[in-house]
Amino acid sequence: MSTDALLSVANLTASVDEKTILHNVNLNVRAGETHVLMGPNGAGKSTMGHVIMGDPVYTVNEGTITFDGADITELSCDKRSRAGLFLSFQAPVEIPGVPLSSFLRATIAGRPGLEMKGKEFRRRVKELAAQLDMDTAYLNRELGVGFSGGEKKKVEMLQLLLLQPKLAILDETDSGLDVDALSVVSRGMDAYRASCDGSLVIITHNTRILEHLTVDRVHVMVGGRIVREDDASLIPWIDEHGFESFEREAAGTADER
Ligand SMILES: Nc1ncnc2c1ncn2[C@@H]1O[C@H](COP(=O)(O)OP(=O)(O)O)[C@@H](O)[C@H]1O
Ligand SMILES: [Mg+2]
Repeated sequence: MSTDALLSVANLTASVDEKTILHNVNLNVRAGETHVLMGPNGAGKSTMGHVIMGDPVYTVNEGTITFDGADITELSCDKRSRAGLFLSFQAPVEIPGVPLSSFLRATIAGRPGLEMKGKEFRRRVKELAAQLDMDTAYLNRELGVGFSGGEKKKVEMLQLLLLQPKLAILDETDSGLDVDALSVVSRGMDAYRASCDGSLVIITHNTRILEHLTVDRVHVMVGGRIVREDDASLIPWIDEHGFESFEREAAGTADER
């Protein structure tokens, strides 16, 4: 484990329903760094995000997750959130009956440094909505209900900017977005980085979203294992060649066992 890491995932093996999905995974992210996690469908990328966030569906069989100096492996999801971890969902949930503004208000309640009066909260949320090209009428609508894919992702970015976590995992925040919505998401990422120098772990297929970000490290996951790590130069290479060679290699290694 690297001691100066903000997030350190060490030898993590995790399963669901007795089926092992992540095998001995390591990941170290320092404060202010941007990491990218890539890999084919079904590789285990979303599982990785959910296990780091403490989704109780998954069982950690081995290994540890350390965040901001504390072992969080056994911590509940809400405590991890309060410690400064954030996960945006690949498929954001809909909650009928809960207006978006009430939901946002609840997410910051009881958080040191984030609590604000009603008037200030409304001003802040309006400001962030404008930054994301989001119609403020959405704030009064039920969370996610009838929102397009792009609108749901804007809501995730709004939460990110409001909460200013120390580390945000963005799970395919860019998937299914048109060009305008994509630019909103990348603007959101920039605004997050600029406002609090937070760390990012971006799970993506779409390398366009990464174009104007400074990426510190790229991790490739295949079959629940990190099979390759490199600097940002790996991104154009994957753009050109895809994941086939990694998948072939991983299959070869599996054959030998
Ligand atoms: N809650 C779950 N129940 C059953 N299987 C799951 C669950 N979550 C993930 N898996 C399985 O784990 C594997 C990895 O899935 P996932 O993490 O979603 O991959 P990725 O995000 O890389 O596409 C897949 O085979 C998937 O079906
Ligand atoms: Mg996924």
